[in-house]
Amino acid sequence: MVSSGLAERVSVAPERLMTHLGLALALLVALVWTALDAWAGSPRVEERTPWRGWALAFLGAVFFQSLLGALVAGNDAGLVYTDWPLMNGSLVPAEYAGRNLWGTIAHSQGAVQLHHRLAAYAVFIAAIVISVMAARSRRMPAQARVLAFVLTGVVTLQAAMGVWTLMAGVPVTLGVLHQAGAAVLLAVVTAFAWRVRRP
Ligand code: HEM
Repeated sequence: MVSSGLAERVSVAPERLMTHLGLALALLVALVWTALDAWAGSPRVEERTPWRGWALAFLGAVFFQSLLGALVAGNDAGLVYTDWPLMNGSLVPAEYAGRNLWGTIAHSQGAVQLHHRLAAYAVFIAAIVISVMAARSRRMPAQARVLAFVLTGVVTLQAAMGVWTLMAGVPVTLGVLHQAGAAVLLAVVTAFAWRVRRP
């Protein structure tokens, strides 16, 4: 630790933390997909359904939301604006803008937290739409339908845990649970995206 330089300053730049988490999560997605392929064997035909694209888009959205979460953690942005649904009484925090565009996107505590909140609401709404459409779809395999309901449940728990983590002032246990919840969510969404391809 000392020779690596990780002795006095144990924090890293938020974008590096985001890159590191992003690579780890990409590896997790690839592992789950490959494990499912190995377990089920190659399909003789792949299902031609619009669900393929929508499921992959949702997987991308959850991945992106996790990267936004890493920016919140990297900026210690969960330690400011600990109220919800407003941020210090406002919809948009007073100190939203950073020094420039990148400073706002990656380094402004108010901006990164607002972006993470807004993206969470979008992911939550998208998950509900997926569940409703899955319940109505006759062609979707039963296992995929179950996975659609499970992913909506996990998104709901994950968002609720995020609010709890924030309002409690980010205790380590909740922060770690919220991070682990994102990994579980990504694994479930990967399984869903994999399953809708199989007839
Ligand atoms: C789909 C929903 C969500 C996902 C997938 C998600 C994912 C993540 C991830 C991956 C992190 C980074 C953890 C780390 O690197 O330590 C994070 C951090 C954080 N998230 Fe979320 N999040 C979601 C919803 C929310 C919501 C709704 C809130 C609150 C309004 C929230 C508040 C936070 C806070 C405060 C942190 C920083 C924790 C820390 O400093 O350790 N999250 N989130």
